[in-house]
Amino acid sequence: MTGTISRRKLLLGGAAFLGAGLADSVWRGIPATPFTPSLKFLNSALAAIPRPDHLIRASSNENPYGPSQIARQAIADAMIDANKYLNHGSDLIAHLSELEDISQDNIAIGSGSGEILAVGGLMASLTPGSVVCPDPTFGGLISYADNFGAELIRVPVNANMETDLQAMYNAIRPDTTLVYLCNPNNPIPNLIDRQALRDFVLEVSRDRMVFVDEAYHEFVDDPAYESMLGLIRDGHKNIIVSRTASKIHGLAALRIGFAYSHPDHIADMQRKMTGQLNIAGARAALASYQDLEFQRYTLTQNRKALDVVEGMCDELGLRYIKSHANFTFIHTGRDINEVSAAMREAGILIGRPFPPMLDWARVSMAKPEEMEYFVQVYRTLYG
Ligand SMILES: Cc1ncc(COP(=O)(O)O)c(C=O)c1O
Repeated sequence: MTGTISRRKLLLGGAAFLGAGLADSVWRGIPATPFTPSLKFLNSALAAIPRPDHLIRASSNENPYGPSQIARQAIADAMIDANKYLNHGSDLIAHLSELEDISQDNIAIGSGSGEILAVGGLMASLTPGSVVCPDPTFGGLISYADNFGAELIRVPVNANMETDLQAMYNAIRPDTTLVYLCNPNNPIPNLIDRQALRDFVLEVSRDRMVFVDEAYHEFVDDPAYESMLGLIRDGHKNIIVSRTASKIHGLAALRIGFAYSHPDHIADMQRKMTGQLNIAGARAALASYQDLEFQRYTLTQNRKALDVVEGMCDELGLRYIKSHANFTFIHTGRDINEVSAAMREAGILIGRPFPPMLDWARVSMAKPEEMEYFVQVYRTLYG
């Protein structure tokens, strides 16, 4: 229950907690309440836990291991060419074309998939109209469309927290220019059933664009999942799939992402992009896509980290969404601002608030040993 104090915490925190002077509240920017633990309480409760010497980043769905050693070497080697205007992308596109068995004309590289999403949002808003999306979902495309005047039609996920394709279909209006889907979704790391998604994408793309964001594609290991890239391979129009080198490849800061679509749409997107490809990112991505060992290692460690956090949720009886990505979504039953402020005090960054689910926390997977510390802190504060 939100704001309640466990018996154990009362014992732990004792008078310091009960006497929580509002003045020494640690909840920066958040009005203190009688239930807000004091700094003294937090510090005494957490003192017993050995604290890592660095901030733990469980906030942005990054890869705690990346870039791979081979990618790091490629970055270093690229520096010799950093003075030249080279077409850095052609080798990478050729590699992806072979990997995905798709023509090079079907691929564009962006400054992160963030740029691909922004261009999708721009395309959707050039003609006045609406954009249909799940709620909650990742904001990259929809916030761009919103900024450029499209009306957002947000369709709440269903009671099982799944993207509600039927409700999204019903929400489409004659003026809807684009439908955005994220699979696996973010912040809810669940999947859309492959057949239902395929039928939906084929039907909806007859009259308007469908954008499927597959940023977490490489983390999925479930027969219920299918990438929509196959539809593009089969020649269907009005479909864009985005992928990224930021997640499994751990190259978030080097800004490499991809669009897969019909060649006409790829050409249109390329005309609208403003980013320029950087040589370090392009060479690192090319190296990393070939480093299968690093990708396997990332997946193994991610699974271990998820086991640590999901194990805690099972023991504490907390609802969470089975993850098909590198983060989980936990129903803490507490105000996310309160939980993230407490975690920050303990040296852990967790995900931002995702309205309307303000008593859920998105927790990204750092290294398993770092997630052990997260679990110790969470148990101490709320267990
Ligand atoms: C679903 C989703 N799409 C796209 C992105 C953007 O990734 P990038 O711009 O680094 O490729 C993110 C980043 O967190 C994401 O979660």
